Amino acid sequence: MTTLNDQGLLKSASYWQGAWHPAAEHFAVTNPANGDVIAKVANASPADAEQAVTAAAAAFAGWSALPGAERASMLMRWHQLMLQHQDDLGLILTLEQGKPLAEAKGEIAYGASYLQWFAEEAKRVYGDTIPAQANNQRIVVLKQPVGVVAAITPWNFPNAMIARKAAAALAAGCTFVVKPAQQTPLSALAMAELAQRAGIPAGVFNVVVSTDAAGIGNVLTQDKRVAKFSFTGSTKIGKQLAKQCADSVKRVSMELGGNAPFIVFADANLDAAVSGLMASKFRNAGQTCVCTNRVLVQQSVLAAFTAKLQQAMTNLTLGDGTTAGVNIGPLISDDACNKVDELVRAAVKQGAQLHCGGERQSLNSLFYLPTVITNVTSNMTLAQEEIFGPVVAIQCFSDEAQAISLANATEYGLAAYFYSRDIGRVWRVAEALQFGMVGVNEGIISNAAAPFGGVKQSGYGREGSQYGLNDYLDIKYLCFGGLDN
Ligand code: SIN
Repeated sequence: MTTLNDQGLLKSASYWQGAWHPAAEHFAVTNPANGDVIAKVANASPADAEQAVTAAAAAFAGWSALPGAERASMLMRWHQLMLQHQDDLGLILTLEQGKPLAEAKGEIAYGASYLQWFAEEAKRVYGDTIPAQANNQRIVVLKQPVGVVAAITPWNFPNAMIARKAAAALAAGCTFVVKPAQQTPLSALAMAELAQRAGIPAGVFNVVVSTDAAGIGNVLTQDKRVAKFSFTGSTKIGKQLAKQCADSVKRVSMELGGNAPFIVFADANLDAAVSGLMASKFRNAGQTCVCTNRVLVQQSVLAAFTAKLQQAMTNLTLGDGTTAGVNIGPLISDDACNKVDELVRAAVKQGAQLHCGGERQSLNSLFYLPTVITNVTSNMTLAQEEIFGPVVAIQCFSDEAQAISLANATEYGLAAYFYSRDIGRVWRVAEALQFGMVGVNEGIISNAAAPFGGVKQSGYGREGSQYGLNDYLDIKYLCFGGLDN
């Protein structure tokens, strides 16, 4: 790997109980931009995952007993260390995940912002008092940490998805075990190194890296010592994991797939809509759960909007994320490229019109050309499934009612976007969209202050914001009686 300023951030083994644990077998981490092996990492087993849970269970009593302000100081130190090492963390992220360096550094700042946000929230785990129904009683509500939290996180945001969950869990007083995606273990391990440097006690933050997703997943979802399970990933896997959690009645949060509509009404500022779409569609080469999946454009502005969009897309430079000027990287794997390609080809076969792209940059490369297709209809698979690639699929609508109906015609409900300058329409459409998050004249909606999460088959639970701690807290009600004696 290219030399880091701080080589100590490059770790190659799982971390639990405050120590690094070698394994007999190793797996390769490759750079999707060129296929180079950038590291070999110790492959943890399900028995290792059990040990990590043991460490988290043992650390829980001490960590949860600390005053919130003390947990807050450690989270703040972790936040500062992440920012201090933003360049190195960004480089590690680009090398294992592929996103351009500027975007990778942006993700580090985004991840760190959750540590800061929840450090602040750690001091504000307020309970409640409730007027009792009898004069001789008083009702008090306490909020207490749920216990050990386990998480499985995806490859598309190898830093921020861990930070978003761990920050809330640790702030609440929980301890944490995460299994990051096997494609991107290095970012997670670098976070563990910085957690250790920040003084977070042994057993509080643990990382298990492995290619045995099913085996580790079984431990994290079935071990009775784990009180809460949090997952970000596909709806298909999320359903399976949720079923596995049922036997031990775990608290579960699921941040699953999306199928985001991006509606452009004829009264929209078309330039603003194009720049919102560029951000929402091409962030991480289209590989985010909140990326625009279906672009719905009102018939009367279709030609003008498509022309402006194609003009804006001439600014996209595809390439290795470490190269200056590159703003769109490779897809994560060959399978990912094949899937995007199949979706595009199938749509074209069914009558969609290809304007640009529609293929890999060159044979076997993981770079998929930014693509625009029009005449897309709701029955096409790419309008029903997450594309997870740099493909703008445009459908046309005639009026507001049709736009809303097309937008909601999906089993998913994570993010939606629309552009309009009519205040009445803004409220009507915002309220009618069946999604957990709606960008109104805005293409990038994720930030630490906002509640991130979906409805329908996009999952449940919220991450970030004032609501984010609730997923990690139990409510305990105290009834004080006999106060008239
Ligand atoms: C995701 O793709 O799951 C997360 C994207 C975000 O946090 O904006």
